Parts: sequence; structure tokens; C-alpha cells
Amino acid sequence: MAWTVRTWLQLFAWGLGGLVVLVALAYGGLVLVSNRMLAATVTLPAAVQDIQIPDGNPEAIARGRYLVEHLAGCTDCHGPDFGGRVIVNDFLSGEWWAPNLTAGNGSVTRGFRSADWVRAIRHGVAPDGHRLFLMPSNEFVNFSDGDVGSIIAYVRSLPPVDRPSRGIRLGPVDRLMVATGRITFAFDRIDHTRDRTAATPGPTAAWGKVLATTCSGCHGEGFSGGTIVNGNPVWPPARNLTPDATGTKGWTFDQFSDAFRHGKLPNGTMLSTVMPWQAFSAISDTDAQALYAFFQSLPPRPAGNH
Ligand code: HEC
Ligand code: HEC
Repeated sequence: MAWTVRTWLQLFAWGLGGLVVLVALAYGGLVLVSNRMLAATVTLPAAVQDIQIPDGNPEAIARGRYLVEHLAGCTDCHGPDFGGRVIVNDFLSGEWWAPNLTAGNGSVTRGFRSADWVRAIRHGVAPDGHRLFLMPSNEFVNFSDGDVGSIIAYVRSLPPVDRPSRGIRLGPVDRLMVATGRITFAFDRIDHTRDRTAATPGPTAAWGKVLATTCSGCHGEGFSGGTIVNGNPVWPPARNLTPDATGTKGWTFDQFSDAFRHGKLPNGTMLSTVMPWQAFSAISDTDAQALYAFFQSLPPRPAGNH
């Protein structure tokens, strides 16, 4: 048989067809694996410690509002009205919605008992047992029972919003990131049986340590900064908060406060708004002093290894 142009074209077409089938099979596998990881259910190593929710207590609600708006970042994802909103929407990453947490139609927290709130906020698990995706529960583990109760009371005091919770739909790149463990679940990073870091509010390093858990999601558990885990790839790396020459060595409280609450570095340049300094601008002086004392008390570490 002579190798005519036609034969070559036929071979090429078969090859191309084969490749398309292979890619489709591989993608199908990826969809399967990533869907299974999102839907997998887990059991907590210990019973959820239920707490008293101070519903209707104006002081507790004000406290909850302060924590939510200026430290915990809940509204960045769940929306200023807590009615839920889209966090990410592009072809490669997919469409990610943080759910509606109000009492309105479309909310996922209607019918939540107090333990369901605690399980979500402290352990990163939904009532049906799936690990919450993207919800940074690892940053809330050191909040006291009183503070977690205040946060819940505040959210429950908000007007109902009718908005559907549209869930998480992953795009191809993020399916790969989930399937290969490059995007992790807070549940898997939390030590669920560890004792909570306890301290009473005041301008002390001990209280700063409690508050600083909310900084660790970006600045790392060791606070030396680097690429932000589960962060958007276009974000700048978080910086070193330890008193190393590459970080905050020799900073005065005012210099720390200017950077942390106003985005202004000692050399006059401004920090990116990925660093939530606008939300932090209303942090109280006591809490800012506590954070300053805590970071200055840390052993200096070189920048960038978390
Ligand atoms: C980085 C974004 C982000 C931040 C910040 C965040 N959440 Fe979430 N949260 C989510 C997403 C996304 C889900 C849904 C995850 C899922 O269904 O897998 C969620 C789920 C929840 C749920 C559980 C709903 C359910 O389906 O069981 C509660 C309760 C909740 N968040 C409360 C809070 C509170 C309170 C704060 C602040 C203290 C907060 N979240 C901060 C993104 C966030
Ligand atoms: C959402 C991620 C995120 C969170 C949460 C966050 N930071 Fe940052 N922070 C950053 C990024 C990113 C930078 C660097 C920004 C830049 O390079 O412009 C930064 C920079 C800083 C700097 C400047 C440090 C230096 O060496 O120049 C300080 C101070 C700081 N953050 C303090 C805090 C404190 C305190 C908290 C917690 C209360 C916190 N940050 C929480 C992302 C974050």
C-alpha cells in the first residue's frame, strides 16, 4: 500500500481523535476525584463543645460586630449584609459563592443549632459533615467562647436577606489544585483537640497571641510571611512580622500601627490592599498594642518560610 497523502491524513485524524479521548478521560477522572474530595465527610475527634449564644445582648452584639468587621474578615467573603456573595468567578478557577448566613430565604444557616455554628466556625465542618471549602476556620480557633458567642449573636441579629446560596463550582485549574492537595481544607490544618490559647483582653503579648491567629492565615503560623496559602496567585507575598531585619526589627509601636492600621510603611510606601489594613484601621489601641507586643516577643525568623 502506498503512503498517500490521504493515508497520512487519516492517521493524523485517528491520532487526534485518540488524544481528545485521552484528555476527556483524564479530565473526567479529575472531576471525579475533586468532587469526591469536596463531598467527603469527616468525623470530629471529639464532640463539639456547645456554647451559650448571648442573643439580644447589646454589649455582646457590639463585640461580635467589632470582631467581624475589623478582625475576622467574615464580610469579605459572606458580604457586608451576610447574605452571601460570589468570591471568585472565572473560567479557570470556577464560580465560588460564600453562603447566605442570615435568616432569609436561601440561607444555609436556617435551622442551625448553636453547636452547628460552633462546628463551622471553630472546626470547619458543615452539619452534613463535609469540610468547608475556603472558610478559614483555622484563623478562629483561639477566639474564646465569649467571643465566638458574640460573633454568632451578631450574625443572628442581622436583618434577613433573601439570596440563594449558590455553592462552590470548581474550574479546571482549581480542580487540579484540590485533587493534588495544593488547596487545603481548614479542617485538615486544625488540631481539633488542642487547648485554646487563653488570655484576658489587654495590651499584652498573651492577648496579642490570641488576636494574631487571624493574621496567620496570610502571614503563616510562624508569622514570617511568604506566598499566601490558598491565596490568589496574583497577590503579593505576605511580609515578615517577626523582629528580623527582613521584618519588624526595631519598629516602634507607631511604625507598626501605621503599617498595620493605615497601610503606610516606615519608608513611606503604601501596602497593597490585599493586606486588610482598611478593615484594621478601626482596631482599638489596646488590641494594636497587644499585637505589637506579641510580634516583638517572637524569635526573629528569616522572611518567607511561613
Ligand atoms: C475567605 C472567605 C471566608 C471568610 C473570611 C469566612 N467565611 Fe464562612 N464560609 C466561606 C465559604 C466559601 C463557605 C462555604 C463552604 C462550603 O460550603 O464548603 C463558608 C461557610 C460558613 C458557614 C457554614 C455554612 C454551612 O454550609 O454549614 C458558617 C457558619 C460561616 N461560614 C461563618 C463565618 C463566620 C462567622 C466568619 C467570620 C468569623 C466567616 N464565615 C468567614 C468563606 C468564608
Ligand atoms: C488577607 C491576607 C492578610 C491578612 C489576613 C493579614 N495580612 Fe498583613 N500583609 C498581607 C500582605 C499581602 C502584606 C504585604 C503587602 C505588600 O507587600 O504591599 C502584608 C503586610 C503586613 C505588614 C507590613 C510588614 C512589613 O514587614 O513590611 C504588617 C505590619 C502586617 N501585614 C500586619 C498584619 C497583622 C497584624 C495582621 C492580623 C491582625 C495581618 N497583617 C493580617 C496580607 C495579610
